[in-house]
Amino acid sequence: MANSCTWNTCLHLLLIVSFAAAESSCYSSSSFETRKTETDALVSTGWWNPVPSFCTSCNFIGVECNKAGRVITINLGDRYYVGNDLGMLNISSFPYLQKLDLSSNRLTGSIPYQVAMHSKLKYLNLSNNYLTGKLDFTSFPHLQTLDLSSNGLTGSIPHQIGMLSKLKYLSVSNNDITGNLPSSLGNLTQLQMLDVSQNKLTGTIPLELGNLSHLDSLDLSFNLFDGSLDLQLANLTQL
Ligand SMILES: *[C@@H]1O[C@H](CO)[C@@H](O)[C@H](O)[C@H]1NC(C)=O
Ligand SMILES: *[C@@H]1O[C@H](CO)[C@@H](O)[C@H](O)[C@H]1NC(C)=O
Ligand SMILES: *[C@@H]1O[C@H](CO)[C@@H](O)[C@H](O)[C@H]1NC(C)=O
Ligand SMILES: *[C@@H]1O[C@H](CO)[C@@H](O)[C@H](O)[C@H]1NC(C)=O
Ligand SMILES: *[C@@H]1O[C@H](CO)[C@@H](O)[C@H](O)[C@H]1NC(C)=O
Repeated sequence: MANSCTWNTCLHLLLIVSFAAAESSCYSSSSFETRKTETDALVSTGWWNPVPSFCTSCNFIGVECNKAGRVITINLGDRYYVGNDLGMLNISSFPYLQKLDLSSNRLTGSIPYQVAMHSKLKYLNLSNNYLTGKLDFTSFPHLQTLDLSSNGLTGSIPHQIGMLSKLKYLSVSNNDITGNLPSSLGNLTQLQMLDVSQNKLTGTIPLELGNLSHLDSLDLSFNLFDGSLDLQLANLTQL
């Protein structure tokens, strides 16, 4: 019996050996270090529980990778109740991220615009959380879909919104946004859907909205705007 082991210790050994095999196949890859950074950044959120025993973040629920094993999608939208600070996710760890959906997760904190090194982000859905702070759009040049509706966002819509030239869908409805609608919205010529309803926006509707010829859905309701809409919007024939 010297060479033998009990059922329990054998199983244990087997687990160690198979785990070591999985680990070594990770280590053998040249991109292991960068993928480890991404995995560590996911694990440290505490949002995946239990953490998958595989070394790659590509096995995490709601995570998709490209062929090189880099994270391109994080989608926990409307499925999980994460319930903590959005700042737990170090967004700058995911330079290839294209889609981030953390909608309906009881997330608190503010949107970390400054760390958004990820010029690749195309879809950002943070709707239906408890996010606070002001809007800032300088760091998302490729964004096509931005849904920040139903949070506690404050401040005004910055003029720099006009820099998001790829935007097709923009909703900031049901927040506490104040100030005027910036005329730079007229720069967003790809825009198909604009919803700023249920805020505290004031002033007049900028004439430049008349330039948004692809718009097929516009909701400005439940704000504090002055004046009439008819004239300015006369050219929006697709509405
Ligand atoms: C954002 O997520 C919510 C679900 O939480 C969904 O209803 C909504 O359609 C999504 N927005 C976009 C633009 O996909
Ligand atoms: C976030 O990730 C970046 C890139 O991986 C790293 O340089 C930075 O130190 C991280 N920040 C924190 C607070 O962990
Ligand atoms: C509007 O678009 C033009 C051309 O793409 C750009 O030069 C300008 O900075 C934009 N304006 C704003 C306010 O973003
Ligand atoms: C945008 O709209 C304004 C006001 O209606 C107009 O003066 C301007 O020429 C338009 N710009 C473009 C690029 O169509
Ligand atoms: C509507 O379009 C016409 C012709 O393209 C243009 O002259 C006018 O300024 C536009 N009106 C608005 C409110 O954008």
